[in-house]
Amino acid sequence: MPTFILNVNNKEVTVDAEADMPLLWVLRDTLNLTGTKYGCGVASCGACTVIIDGNSLYSCQRTVANCVGKKIITIEGLSTDGSHPVQQAWQKAGVPQCGYCQPGQIMTVAALLGKNKKPSDEMINNAMSNNLCRCGTYHRIKEAIHLAIDDINK
Ligand code: FES
Ligand code: FES
Repeated sequence: MPTFILNVNNKEVTVDAEADMPLLWVLRDTLNLTGTKYGCGVASCGACTVIIDGNSLYSCQRTVANCVGKKIITIEGLSTDGSHPVQQAWQKAGVPQCGYCQPGQIMTVAALLGKNKKPSDEMINNAMSNNLCRCGTYHRIKEAIHLAIDDINK
């Protein structure tokens, strides 16, 4: 089995995997980073969202071979203590219900605000259209996004 060196949460890790193994499986099963969730496996839900080179992307749709040389951040790497402004805003707004979709939602918002500290409503809506929530927490997600925007711009 081939060996790959990945940069995950600012650490180099060595992974033995088939080249076409989805990044999602490498994160969860090989690296034990289970904060990234499996929802659909077919690019339809966003539960598996991670940040790769600053962009929020579905880890179920990236192979391990495609991720070599890229900087991968998972929910575990956003902060060590839940202090990232998006995580703080999520707590303040009490966003999660079952919680399953939330790591993916948070990673999408973190990538969006990483690129643009004051995104327009259209940019927010476009970004968030990549993440579904079966529990319908959308209104609290919006509230938390605006709390995070206020926080990083104060
Ligand atoms: S598990 Fe990747 S988009 Fe649903
Ligand atoms: S909080 Fe349950 S799926 Fe989103």
